[in-house]
Amino acid sequence: MTGGTQTILVTGATGGIGTAVCRQLARSGYLLVLAARNEAKLKSLSDELDGTDRHVWLPLEMTSDQSIRQFGEQLAARHITLDGVVLMPPQAHSTNDPMPGSEAWRVLFQNCFIGPLEVLKAAIERMNPDPIGGRRAKIVIISGISSAQVLGHYATSNVMRCAWIGEAKTLAFALGSRGIHVNTLSLGGTLSPWYREGIERRADAAGVTFEQRLAEETTNVPLGKYGEPEEVAIAVEGLLSRFSDHMTGLNIMHDGGFTRSY
Ligand SMILES: NC(=O)c1ccc[n+]([C@@H]2O[C@H](COP(=O)([O-])OP(=O)(O)OC[C@H]3O[C@@H](n4cnc5c(N)ncnc54)[C@H](OP(=O)(O)O)[C@@H]3O)[C@@H](O)[C@H]2O)c1
Repeated sequence: MTGGTQTILVTGATGGIGTAVCRQLARSGYLLVLAARNEAKLKSLSDELDGTDRHVWLPLEMTSDQSIRQFGEQLAARHITLDGVVLMPPQAHSTNDPMPGSEAWRVLFQNCFIGPLEVLKAAIERMNPDPIGGRRAKIVIISGISSAQVLGHYATSNVMRCAWIGEAKTLAFALGSRGIHVNTLSLGGTLSPWYREGIERRADAAGVTFEQRLAEETTNVPLGKYGEPEEVAIAVEGLLSRFSDHMTGLNIMHDGGFTRSY
């Protein structure tokens, strides 16, 4: 990626992490294509980032084939050329059950893997890198630390995350010669609003303060803290930048050192 303004698609743009990523990238001068389901939130974020319609927002329901098709058509109709994608597949809910029924698995694979992969395919079609000329395209897939270790309470997520690691590595080999990079950023606990609410609930149940509960939960994190969405945003920007010009197929842990495997 070199010269000129770069255009980045951010899915999950309106979420806790997505909003921080969009703010960071907008501040750095990227043009953004914002995608999520809730149109009012997309418009409000777009207005907040820049009141002059500099950025584009497009509704996207990643669990719907029709919505994904329309999304791809919109990218083409607006002649959008993408220099990067930040893909946030919907997260599999926390569960202790490693063997849900076959229908539950079908829904999970459709919503957390097949649908988001279709979105990625549509985005790749809108990339036009020129590695000889120094123009590279960067894909960052947001994943979680169960991509590298089994978490008992994320029984199905363990599987979905590993599916993405396999896909990312395979795509890195398939797309590398075209100058398209594919890396995953695997997050540990990150303090987006829903994650904070979970800590608040557990604090209430234990009769302690939010800060006490947070300190207790992070004793096994070497850096002694959960991540902030703004920290994720800076890491994402790094992976979209020249920092990653010789890096692809990596699964990078963003977890305060929590993951014990090498
Ligand atoms: N926070 C953490 O601790 C943590 C840890 C590990 C990994 N992650 C990963 O980080 C990413 C973002 O997490 P977050 O904490 O920012 O979550 P969040 O605040 O719940 O945001 C989720 C975002 O995705 C959009 N979204 C949800 N379902 C969608 C669907 N079916 N189709 C299209 N868009 C959809 C939401 O907007 P709409 O509802 O408007 O669609 C929202 O913009 C996720 O991929 C998650 O798995 C987070």
